[in-house]
Amino acid sequence: MGRYRKFVFVCSGSDCKKAGCKTLTKAVKSILTLDPHKGKFKLIKTKCMDFCKSGPVMIFENEVFKNGEVEKLRSKIS
Ligand code: FES
Repeated sequence: MGRYRKFVFVCSGSDCKKAGCKTLTKAVKSILTLDPHKGKFKLIKTKCMDFCKSGPVMIFENEVFKNGEVEKLRSKIS
């Protein structure tokens, strides 16, 4: 197993860019770098994941988080 235990996939496709994936990426990074999460998660930017109307979109443990659901992600990893 690699260094990281879990991965968060954030779409950086064109529709998600328009919907604010940069802001979402910053918010997710700020969560993942906090103790006790630091070093356990890796954020991976992806191309379009085909949920374009619900952006910005991310996937964590096979679950799709639509419309930038940062708080939902936070509760899943805590
Ligand atoms: S652009 Fe993000 S899901 Fe298509």
